[in-house]
Amino acid sequence: MTKQVLVLPGDGIGPEITAEAVKVLEALKISDGLDIVMSEDLVGGAAYDVHGVPLADETMEKAQQADAILLGAVGGYKWESLDISVRPEKGLLRLRSDMSLFANLRPAYLFEQLADASTLKPEVVAGLDILIVRELTGGIYFGQPRGVRTLENGERQGYNTYVYSESEIKRIAHVAFQAAMKRDKKLTSVDKANVLEVTELWREVMEEVGKEYPEVELKHMYVDNAAMQLVLNPKQFDVLVTGNMFGDILSDEASMLTGSIGMLASASLDENNKGMYEPSHGSAPDIAGQNIANPLATILSAAMMLRYSLGQEVLAVKIENAVSTVLDKGLRTGDIYSEGMTKVSTSEMGDAVVAAL
Ligand code: IPM
Ligand code: MG
Repeated sequence: MTKQVLVLPGDGIGPEITAEAVKVLEALKISDGLDIVMSEDLVGGAAYDVHGVPLADETMEKAQQADAILLGAVGGYKWESLDISVRPEKGLLRLRSDMSLFANLRPAYLFEQLADASTLKPEVVAGLDILIVRELTGGIYFGQPRGVRTLENGERQGYNTYVYSESEIKRIAHVAFQAAMKRDKKLTSVDKANVLEVTELWREVMEEVGKEYPEVELKHMYVDNAAMQLVLNPKQFDVLVTGNMFGDILSDEASMLTGSIGMLASASLDENNKGMYEPSHGSAPDIAGQNIANPLATILSAAMMLRYSLGQEVLAVKIENAVSTVLDKGLRTGDIYSEGMTKVSTSEMGDAVVAAL
């Protein structure tokens, strides 16, 4: 059956990078009979400019009906002064929340050709292959109450609520343990259980769920230590599981181990593996419209979409191999460029991946 893919390019470099991923998917339709139909819609600032909200209800509806969603990035200077309720990021957060995309998989995988592109020594990062499992629809991102209030003394006070219920922790724990079972069977759960009760519970529930996966070696690590260990000795990690905010921060950090945040793909899945796929990086408004952004994270996200939501493992691997071939040839966008390599534009990189398929 033909699968429906909703493409949401978003803002900044979003349209440029998603165009390259769409190019790759179009090529697979022709070469391998990939049976998908892609339609496009607005999200983020682009949606705000047209609809006055960062995600129109019609778009939300389309997303609910699609088999998978490919998203670029949202946000930009233009919309920074808007009320927080209609900022571009809210469009993205609504998609995640309304579709219950609670499991965010962010693989920090180092293509060996890029060992030089990392700011860390090649021997520290060579062979790196970490999977970050980030809880995506709970925690302090969504906890109530939240806001800015005025106290009796006239001073303003901002507040957010860090909450996780047992069921939320359990379901992300299962995703992480199952992922670990398919890999090296090592799971590190990251928390701040020495200070925050909510993550004390997180730790307890991880232990409980762990009993169902006796083959997986479960370790706990405080988030500050995890941030340090990631740059000290990143290869100690196999699967890392953590809450929404810690996952946001640690995945940006982990991306730099792989050479550039421009390489980090992601999948956000619901209970039934319906998903949204997006690069882990942002909209990079400073380089938008210049055709210099790295489209590989988005192209690799399209590969994850084929794997997790569209049941096309073979084609997913085909894209990943094509990316590797292009890197072998020495083609690099600015963010992963090093001496002796060939610097290419966003669209040249996309064309090269298509040619390598
Ligand atoms: C990410 C981004 C988002 C997040 C922003 C754009 C809301 O940083 O996907 O990591 O914080 O989750
Ligand atoms: Mg982030």
